[in-house]
Amino acid sequence: MLAAQGMQAVDGGEADLVVLNTCHIRERAAEKVYSDIGRLRREDGSRPMIAVAGCVAQAEAAEIPRRAPSVDIVVGPQAYHRLPGMIAAAAGGGRALDTDMPAQTKFGALPARRSQGPSAFLTVQEGCDKFCTYCVVPYTRGAEISRPWSAILDEAKALVDMGAKEITLLGQNVNAWADVDGRGLHHLIAALDRIPGLHRIRYTTSHPNDMSEGLIRAHADVEKLMPFLHLPVQSGSTRILKAMNRSHGRDSYLRLIEQIRAARPDIAVSGDFIVGFPGETDAEFAETLGIVAEVNYAQAYSFKYSPRPGTPAAAMDQQVAPEIMDERLQRLQALLNEQQHAFNQASVGRRTDVLIERRGKKPGQMLGKSPWLQSVHVQTGARIGEIMEVEIVSAGPNSVGGRAAAPALAEIAA
Ligand code: 5AD
Ligand code: SF4
Repeated sequence: MLAAQGMQAVDGGEADLVVLNTCHIRERAAEKVYSDIGRLRREDGSRPMIAVAGCVAQAEAAEIPRRAPSVDIVVGPQAYHRLPGMIAAAAGGGRALDTDMPAQTKFGALPARRSQGPSAFLTVQEGCDKFCTYCVVPYTRGAEISRPWSAILDEAKALVDMGAKEITLLGQNVNAWADVDGRGLHHLIAALDRIPGLHRIRYTTSHPNDMSEGLIRAHADVEKLMPFLHLPVQSGSTRILKAMNRSHGRDSYLRLIEQIRAARPDIAVSGDFIVGFPGETDAEFAETLGIVAEVNYAQAYSFKYSPRPGTPAAAMDQQVAPEIMDERLQRLQALLNEQQHAFNQASVGRRTDVLIERRGKKPGQMLGKSPWLQSVHVQTGARIGEIMEVEIVSAGPNSVGGRAAAPALAEIAA
């Protein structure tokens, strides 16, 4: 969009315009923008034009100019297609602010991407209607909206034409995607499956209550749909899940995992966890450790609860002390890291396809992804964008090592 106005990306120090894209999900992420703004002042006292974009802009539009008077532009996530006009306004000396959530989506107004690597992200859904009591997303990103079927398929084909071998469908609640004819995410996946040249399909992030039977079945039926599912549970305690307004319990989540594994036995399950939600007792935290032990995650993200302004949980009594949260997070992460390492170790000896995504640090080394989203290092002459068969020969906590697989005996015989 800005390139169309004659701008180009440069290294930080020389920029005329700096756009800080921000996250409001936890306090630490939200505070980062203020220290970043402070660092933009140059030695001679001058500074670039500064735009704050993203969810901090959406949530703290009025506060930002007070805390950081040097900010010229504040633009929310649903309004960033209007950035060029705002830059023009700010260049005229004023401050430009836009946190509208227009009914028509920004997507139609954004120019098409001009280049694409082998693994592409494609936003199909935005916003959230779930209102978990700790979470700002329903306020910063607004109500759930789904992009139309044809716009998504057109963009997917364009991405493949530009070299994408893999597409990850994105949405805050991606599995709530639905079109006007009542088709769900699994219909969309089936349509993507028919695009020649596209080899891998993924989607993230999913809510347990929107895992439809059709979507679960797609994991059994659609070969291009990769055996990986990010399905946050947040806590293993049904009482805490209720207080979080998650609208699923411990048992219903476990049953769901069972069904998904019945459809796709080798699926790698990933999750998000919050420790120290208000009122969480030792016994309730132990239930989180327990559900982790039962599910056995291939990877996961875990966080200390962070009270967010305006959310119901921030006003709850019994906020958990920081030292207790620290200790719980350490114990949970130790278990999750152990599981991730064990998952990687269990794949040693497997032959699998790897999509080569970039060069590694060592000469001749390339980095790619396995179907289970593991990072794979391999010495190979294969180029970026190739899918090669690899035998996994070593495993670390965060990646595995592979070797170009010799052709199987059956292939030699053929
Ligand atoms: N505090 C801590 N973690 C949070 N998340 C969302 N809101 C909060 C909060 N207030 C986590 C959830 C969610 C992930 C994207 O961020 O685990 O799944
Ligand atoms: Fe936030 Fe996810 Fe809950 Fe929506 S479903 S409120 S995005 S944690």
